[in-house]
Amino acid sequence: MINNPLPRLDTHPALKKELLPHCRLAPGEIWVDPTGRHRVGCLDAGQAGDVAALTDGRRAGLAVHDPPYNLAAFEARALAEFIAWCRRWVQNTADILLPDSALYVWLGADQQHHFQPLPDFMLMMRDFDFTPRSFITMRNQRGYGTQKNWMAVRQELLFYTKGKPPFAVQYTDIPKILRGYYKSVNGQRTENMSRGKANTIRAGNVWVDIQQVFYRMEENVSGCYAQKPLKSIERIIAAGSRPDDLVVDFFSHAGTTLLAADRLGRRCFVMDIDPVFAEITIRRLEHFRQTGKSGWQNSHPFEVELQNRKP
Ligand SMILES: C[S@@+](CC[C@H](N)C(=O)[O-])C[C@H]1O[C@@H](n2cnc3c(N)ncnc32)[C@H](O)[C@@H]1O
Repeated sequence: MINNPLPRLDTHPALKKELLPHCRLAPGEIWVDPTGRHRVGCLDAGQAGDVAALTDGRRAGLAVHDPPYNLAAFEARALAEFIAWCRRWVQNTADILLPDSALYVWLGADQQHHFQPLPDFMLMMRDFDFTPRSFITMRNQRGYGTQKNWMAVRQELLFYTKGKPPFAVQYTDIPKILRGYYKSVNGQRTENMSRGKANTIRAGNVWVDIQQVFYRMEENVSGCYAQKPLKSIERIIAAGSRPDDLVVDFFSHAGTTLLAADRLGRRCFVMDIDPVFAEITIRRLEHFRQTGKSGWQNSHPFEVELQNRKP
């Protein structure tokens, strides 16, 4: 078994530069899937013209966005500037969504800086014609923090709608942490699991059953630093769209939304401003179609081009 992962590309700019000649999209270009179902652009979410080029006159029923959060891990910008930028891509999203549609946005909350940008983003969203529907929390297994504060293990996900989009209830395995809930029935102490007949429960707005992506998982895409678990995106797509509906994601990165949409029989148009992540997105779909695998685990998307590189 080879074990040759790429390091995080955001902290290895020289390596990232080495990958550029292997990227098929230059800024402004769009790849059209040979099946005609999907499109991947190397485009800027803040530019209305780029979004129009990606969508090519089609409207989407579901948008799943995971922008950079303005946290330390990303390029820090003044908060007001970040929110003004968010306003632009939210407007660009509103312009290409169907009258009955859903918008999901992953966003961080920096506890060292007044939980920015989450509350500022929520306030900004009041200026749009979206109805707020849910504030979902996904639990990470690994967190960050010091011994003097609660460990930060939460990821925030906002859900908005326009009109009346589809919503299909999703079921999850009963997470371990719910199993120990005891109740007395006819004088006998029973556990959650022994009382109910079903072995699934309806997913609520706290998701504790999804494994955070790490290097031992098949879906891992090394080099990426902000990959969302496939299961979380599949849950959103299964709940908020129907087969053949169009799903969009303006911040593709590891291509998770594209892969999830393909697996669930949806059409998908995505973009990333960075040619390397646009390329990784395309390769992830191609790799899945060739091998049935959702990621590279011990290798990486450029294993052929960089085969002589030492780990
Ligand atoms: C947090 S990551 C998205 C992670 C993704 N959900 C996944 O599962 O892999 C954010 C991505 O947005 C891209 N990005 C940043 N600014 C952008 C812009 N203006 N337009 C399009 N993409 C942008 C970055 O290159 C990065 O790949």
